[in-house]
Amino acid sequence: MLLIHTIEDVRAQIKSWKKDGLTVGLVPTMGALHAGHMSLINKCTERCDKTVVSIFVNPIQFGPSEDFDQYPRTLEADAKLCKKAGVDIIFAPTPKEMYGEGHILSNDFLTYVVPPFFYSNKLCGKTRVGHFDGVCTVVNKLFNIVQPNFAFFGEKDRQQLIILKKMVKDLNIPVTIVPCPIVRDENGLALSSRNKYLSQKSKKDALVLNKILFNIKSCYDNGITDVRALTETAYSIMNFQRQSLEYLEFRDQDTLEEKLTADDNTIVFIAVKVGGVRLIDNIALGMIG
Ligand code: PAF
Repeated sequence: MLLIHTIEDVRAQIKSWKKDGLTVGLVPTMGALHAGHMSLINKCTERCDKTVVSIFVNPIQFGPSEDFDQYPRTLEADAKLCKKAGVDIIFAPTPKEMYGEGHILSNDFLTYVVPPFFYSNKLCGKTRVGHFDGVCTVVNKLFNIVQPNFAFFGEKDRQQLIILKKMVKDLNIPVTIVPCPIVRDENGLALSSRNKYLSQKSKKDALVLNKILFNIKSCYDNGITDVRALTETAYSIMNFQRQSLEYLEFRDQDTLEEKLTADDNTIVFIAVKVGGVRLIDNIALGMIG
């Protein structure tokens, strides 16, 4: 496995693979790898001849009061996991390599990929203004650098996945996006690098997200489709003193349009703050089971 920090070196390596007719898969990450990321990596190694994992804590997708500085950076441990999983390249550029001298504020980098406002102004985009501009911009850059045949993204960040699919379609980017199911711990908590911030107590409180989603799914499976009634089931589970609900919304799986009546194309999205940590999760009502 190669650990590469520069765009030039990663391009040279990939060019030689492409010359040999090999397929290349990309798993974009911000590191602090957990079993959720490993499931994407395993899918990639199964499907592609060569697997590239990018590890880059992307400064332009964090707001000024967000956790960019505290975000866990664990390159050594990540590299061990990747090597064991059969990854061919870890691409770990510096912010300077990606955005030039002084990034953000300098003239070295001025061009952003801005997703449609209708997709980015809701759910996480409501409180994380500009977040999806940063995500689309960096993913576009990674696609241009690596030129993968396939790129693997987790359904945990479902709004991100929907926006990136739209970007790839609208801009005719020659890559196939492969969505990968959410990985949960033994209690049902969706795995996330930010779970590292949770205390033991908050970890228990965090289970409210998956409890609400699976409860809504079971009500839907039993024939309840009225979104107002489904939302009320969630309020009965929450402890509003310990869990602060940011949003609970029912939206279309492709267009993110709001649903008043749930159907098999509906995704239920939730964001809750527990012990100061903001967590997100979602469930597809059309999913079997
Ligand atoms: O989902 C993430 O970890 C990030 O948003 C991504 C896609 C790697 C872009 O920085």
